[in-house]
Amino acid sequence: MNVLVTGGAGYIGSHTAIELLASGHDVTVLDNLSNASPRAVDAIRLLANRDVPFVEGDIRDGALLTRLFGEGDFDAVIHFAALKAVGESVAMPLQYYDNNVGGTGRLLDCMAAAGVKTLVFSSSATVYGQPPTNPIREDFPYAPTNPYGRTKLMIEQVLRDIHAADPSWRISCLRYFNPVGAHRSGELGEDPLGAPNNLLPFISQVAVGRREQLEVFGDDYPTPDGTCIRDYVHISDLARGHTAALAYLTRPTSEADDGQFAVHNLGTGRGHSVLEVIAAFEAVTGAALPYRIVGRRPGDCATCYADPSLARKDFGWTARHDLQRMCEDVWRWQATHPEGFRTA
Ligand code: NAD
Ligand code: UFG
Repeated sequence: MNVLVTGGAGYIGSHTAIELLASGHDVTVLDNLSNASPRAVDAIRLLANRDVPFVEGDIRDGALLTRLFGEGDFDAVIHFAALKAVGESVAMPLQYYDNNVGGTGRLLDCMAAAGVKTLVFSSSATVYGQPPTNPIREDFPYAPTNPYGRTKLMIEQVLRDIHAADPSWRISCLRYFNPVGAHRSGELGEDPLGAPNNLLPFISQVAVGRREQLEVFGDDYPTPDGTCIRDYVHISDLARGHTAALAYLTRPTSEADDGQFAVHNLGTGRGHSVLEVIAAFEAVTGAALPYRIVGRRPGDCATCYADPSLARKDFGWTARHDLQRMCEDVWRWQATHPEGFRTA
């Protein structure tokens, strides 16, 4: 297939582009570089050993999208482009609704006009908010606790309505749990601009000496060691989830000919506490990681892990890599690129 990957220079998009190329698909990357480096696109080309067209542009630019779909002859879109920082979304909600919801609306409009009706959308476990129990199934109640999460839920709803109005659309919403890790080569990984919001990038920047110490947000949660439990999933497993979802959407059955709207969790089904992640990282680097316990971060839930059985049943996807492998790959990337893509 010929696939347009929005946000394809970003963390998950770049790894997925490589997976798509390895599976024989053609890829065009569209990204406005608001949270990515053009060197990520160079890394995709290097690792895939292929030229990959890159369009620097914004999903809210209707003229650009119309031109792109006119020239591109795309079969499908994988839509990663979004703003994703929870705290920033609380401070700047309008930017989040405009970029994420408004931008997706523009994209869908141009897809419909071009007759491209196959879409894989990056959703998030954040739509569940504080889950009533674990593991979390796709039919659990929605309760996002911040504007970022609400943009994801709104987009899912828009997609559901589009499919209801025109059932020939084939739409897959993938709800990621906690994507971590890097490409096995060490040439591509997560490269946050500014201070990382997420645990693994923060740990790896402390380990490489860019930051003094990690702050562990709370050790008084109702978990065995008191720190929060999350479902960390290797980025390469997550990337493979996208090719599997695309194959599922376009499988040659009469059912799929009628289009569909599907929602799947992508997680391992296993939770790890913050202290377990620190210990796993220390085992990989062989050095103690400086950290201190501080108060809880507002909005964090104690425990959150997926029931990934629906993705296994529907498209045969299961995560393969364990926490040790996630830490090894993060460390290979960070140790060789201490400043990320800004490393000389
Ligand atoms: P990322 O910031 O690395 O990638 C997003 C990319 O989209 C960036 O390269 C950015 O420059 C680009 N972008 C943003 N707005 C754009 C616009 N208007 N036009 C064109 N490009 C634009 O983030 P990521 O971690 O790779 O996340 C990818 C997707 O997965 C996002 O939709 C995010 O909400 C979702 N997601 C991420 C996580 C996570 O923990 N990383 C968890 C759940 C869901
Ligand atoms: N944590 C720390 N110190 C840090 C950073 C994180 O102790 O410096 C802790 C958090 O309190 C949490 C755990 O590490 O207990 C994981 O935190 P992350 O920020 O890495 O991940 P979250 O589970 O909070 O959020 C992630 C994505 C969100 C997404 C959510 C869905 O970042 O975008 O998963 O579950 F919405």
